[in-house]
Amino acid sequence: MSTHPDETKKLLIADLWKMKAQGQKITMITAYSYPQGLIVDEAGIDIVLVGDSLGMVELGYQDTVPVTMEEMLMHTKAVVRGVNRAHVVGDLPFMSYNISVEQAVTNAGILYKEGGADSVKLEGGREMADKVAAIHRAGIPVFGHIGLTPQTAALLGGFKVQGKSSDDAKRAVDDALALEDAGAYALILEAIPQQLAQVITERVSIPTVGIGGGVYCDGQVLVLHDLLGLFKRFTPKFVKVYADLYTAHLNAVKEFVDDVRNETFPAPEHSFTMKAEVVEELKKRLEE
Ligand code: KIV
Repeated sequence: MSTHPDETKKLLIADLWKMKAQGQKITMITAYSYPQGLIVDEAGIDIVLVGDSLGMVELGYQDTVPVTMEEMLMHTKAVVRGVNRAHVVGDLPFMSYNISVEQAVTNAGILYKEGGADSVKLEGGREMADKVAAIHRAGIPVFGHIGLTPQTAALLGGFKVQGKSSDDAKRAVDDALALEDAGAYALILEAIPQQLAQVITERVSIPTVGIGGGVYCDGQVLVLHDLLGLFKRFTPKFVKVYADLYTAHLNAVKEFVDDVRNETFPAPEHSFTMKAEVVEELKKRLEE
């Protein structure tokens, strides 16, 4: 018998905890727009992340650092309008929570209250525990994110696998435990060895969702544009590409350009007509 939570009801954090307890894998994907929200929800995804990867895959920035609260808010609202069942997470962009506890709670409140997200996510380990605790105390669920944290990749030696030495791995376990203690309800584990992800997953009681974290995580997340083959600048090792929508889009638009130039579009079925006598009458009136 399937233990999957009711496919028609809004998925709650309690359902995610139950899935971990029952060993049922959690699925998570990013989305940034209303149609993407509709599609991923209809596909049965459990968690939709309005990630700050928005900046790279939709807005054309080099990395996630320039993304603003205004951009996150607009895209969170659009996704929320498309999603019925999945749990929607709004990502706090760089410098929207790093300055003070008060700033973190204020901006979490904006994505939650104005944006309609079901929870918020922020990057960082022990150093973020006070912010996670304060947002949680304010009544807003928080998703943690450790391992490779793209907003602060400059401090981590760039976009590379984290936690490979026993010192770094120990720090990652301590970070996970500190975030759980602070009230985080789930954790992203990004770009860490799968053995470390396994240790963390076994040690915390909250679900872990991996992106480059290997098979032992409680769930998996990918960036939608990576999965669909829409983002061509680079493809990390941990991505499985399920479609080539960049080429599909390109070919469709090229065909349209050709059709217009060859006058094969619009065809009669795309056009409106009026009675011949009305055309005649119009011409006569214009000659008068
Ligand atoms: O912004 C994002 O898409 C993310 C995922 C990589 C987890 O944080």
